[in-house]
Amino acid sequence: MSRIYWYQGRFLADNEVRISPEDRGYYFGDGVYEVFRVYGGRLFEAEAHLARLRRSAAGVRLPLPHADEEWLRNLNELVRLNSLQEGTVYLQITRGTAPRNHLFPPQAEPVVMAYCTDVKRPLSAMEAGYAAITLPDTRWLHCDYKTLNLLANVLAKQAAADRGAADAILHRDGTVTESSASNVMIVKDGRLVTHPANHLILHGVTRAVVLRLAAQTEIPAEERPFALEELFAADEVLLTGTTIEVMPVISVDGKPIGSGRPGPITRRLQREFEDLISS
Ligand code: PDD
Repeated sequence: MSRIYWYQGRFLADNEVRISPEDRGYYFGDGVYEVFRVYGGRLFEAEAHLARLRRSAAGVRLPLPHADEEWLRNLNELVRLNSLQEGTVYLQITRGTAPRNHLFPPQAEPVVMAYCTDVKRPLSAMEAGYAAITLPDTRWLHCDYKTLNLLANVLAKQAAADRGAADAILHRDGTVTESSASNVMIVKDGRLVTHPANHLILHGVTRAVVLRLAAQTEIPAEERPFALEELFAADEVLLTGTTIEVMPVISVDGKPIGSGRPGPITRRLQREFEDLISS
């Protein structure tokens, strides 16, 4: 069954969507995006995603064409039209269509596109855990804006795959920031540690949910920078993200983390997350 897109305010079949070669997203990666999870036909943490979208758009001076209620109404309608029960919604807004020029085009209207993907929860990977590698974080200094400029993330993820790993954990001069497409947490002596939500990482919606779950279950958590040495010496390492939820990392650069199996705090957080999404 072909999917239905939300494109420029209309619900269209895929063969009706026409992207211009002069779209600034295409030339410059000049746009912002969000990936939402859908569980049981409902958008998960929609308000948090929309708040981040507003923040990203303001950060790159892109005026959003809709208010939160309109985003919500249309994205819910998209989910309904696609009969999506479990999957993701991708929403992208670019600065518009105009002849190539670095300067903001004075007249261009933002181009809004969204679609659903019928993607299942990665249950077997969440059970077994990921192998990861480490790489220098070569991105710009506004990783808190969720922009279309993902080339460094793409290269990192591909480098991981080329080395037989599932993801790359990034570091700046030895300080762990996040992974190519998720946030990183470590556990040491029962404490959860994750990089502070500043300009060097994406302020993950799942990260915030997991910190909330940790607080509710009295797992002590600290938001502070930590070094690669702490990553390797951790009892547990986990990644958080919209599509991967709470993902254990069992080895980094070929070295086992802790026992080399998903640890008890990761398992506890996975159970809490599971309860939350099925409630
Ligand atoms: N990635 N850090 C980066 C660089 C990310 O791209 C993502 C999400 C996260 C986790 O954020 P959240 O919990 O809000 O999904 C952290 C999405 C899923 C993607 O680009 O596909």
